[in-house]
Amino acid sequence: MSDRKPLISGNWKMHQNHFEAIQLVQKLSYVLTNEDVDAVDVSVHPPFTDIRSVQTVLEADRIPVSLGAQHCHWEEKGAFTGEVSPLMLAKLDVEYVICGHSERRELFGETDDDVNKKVHAILKAGMTPIMCCGETDAEREADQAEEKVSGQVRAGLAKVKPDQVAGMVIAYEPIWAIGTGKTATAEDAQAMCALVRATVSEVAGREAADSIRIQYGGSVKPNNAPELMTQPDIDGALVGGASLDADDFGRIVQYRLVESGS
Ligand code: 13P
Repeated sequence: MSDRKPLISGNWKMHQNHFEAIQLVQKLSYVLTNEDVDAVDVSVHPPFTDIRSVQTVLEADRIPVSLGAQHCHWEEKGAFTGEVSPLMLAKLDVEYVICGHSERRELFGETDDDVNKKVHAILKAGMTPIMCCGETDAEREADQAEEKVSGQVRAGLAKVKPDQVAGMVIAYEPIWAIGTGKTATAEDAQAMCALVRATVSEVAGREAADSIRIQYGGSVKPNNAPELMTQPDIDGALVGGASLDADDFGRIVQYRLVESGS
């Protein structure tokens, strides 16, 4: 077992208005125990319109869940209609920012270079990037999964200092497993997360590779979380659909209870 503390993150995507968001975090606070958050870091990533409301509830009720965002721009301010600055997120006590999610890459044309600029900007604002990578079904079929994922990792980490890389999070999310109910087998997920760690080692050194946290994402549910989470190179999960249900998300965070049979 490594001493990397797992991070389980709920990516709410474009779900939950701010009233629903408040209810969801309150429900989550009833489900999670102190032992859970001692063992596992937990973050929630609501849509931008909910962040202030969720921040207020987390703070007022002292809920030990970190606040996250799903996206940001790389510039600090300027004429970028519709965009949100990393400084604005940091001011709201956001700790983790997802960048390079496959939905941003595939639906909104985000490039590896954009992702790298975001990684630098998020770190500069004092937050932690959760940088996503992952291959399509066609790329996996064509035996290109490794090349695609290691290429995304190299590009995303370009010119990031090794000590900063060490504190980052990378989420390996095979695109064919997102929202489809098809999960990678624990062996495949482990092999790809090991590849991500080996790539980090090449670009930022062994120490950074040993301490960076690597999440698996793609149809993570309470029933498959224990097997995935106990793989040596998997240090957490990036959860979409199941994070919208406090009980399901809580059970994923409590994966270790299943593991120990209690
Ligand atoms: P699902 O858990 O709904 O497959 O989504 C995964 C994901 O994209 C998380 O970022």
